[in-house]
Amino acid sequence: MALQRHQNGMEADIARVLIDRERIAERVDELAREIAAAYPLAGDGIVIVPVLAGALIFVSDLIRRLPVKAQIRMLLASSYTGTSGAEPRILYGPGEQVRGRHVLIVDDILDSGRTLQAVVADLSRHEPASLRSCVLLRKPGKAPEGVAADFIGFDIEDVFVVGYGLDFNSYYRNWPDIAVLRPELYT
Ligand code: IMP
Ligand code: MG
Repeated sequence: MALQRHQNGMEADIARVLIDRERIAERVDELAREIAAAYPLAGDGIVIVPVLAGALIFVSDLIRRLPVKAQIRMLLASSYTGTSGAEPRILYGPGEQVRGRHVLIVDDILDSGRTLQAVVADLSRHEPASLRSCVLLRKPGKAPEGVAADFIGFDIEDVFVVGYGLDFNSYYRNWPDIAVLRPELYT
């Protein structure tokens, strides 16, 4: 590979890899099979709604392994910090395009659950035939019981992670593994 691992400007910021790219690829394969089995649909197929930008990398790998007829409709939620008190808002979404359809939300991580809750509330207004969700990562025990994902890639410890779509200040989304940054970078 031509990638210069020690000259890419990110390597030095990574403290440790939590889930490496090979393990991610295996699990994405399994998830695709689980999801396909849950949607024995013909006709219009399903509508996949990725939550941007965190789901960017995950959804692009997932949909290419998913043998289900699907439309992709983007959704953009405002980012927020857990301590700010501001609720996430839906800045852009599929609106009426989900009415009467089987909808699968795809997000990077289920943490406090506030983002998924806001997305579900927004899409529900347009009365989809069914509404399920898939997250790559979950920090167990943090979201309220009523806010649960139907398909989960990995449960992880309660640490801030980056890579494979997840960011810190919009950086590191293109790091191929799920990793933990060196703590001094957060301060
Ligand atoms: P929640 O609304 O608290 O469930 O968090 C969901 C959103 O917060 C995710 O879509 C991420 O954008 C962001 N987030 C939560 N935890 C992490 C993390 O460990 N790393 C990067 N982003 C995170
Ligand atoms: Mg996000």
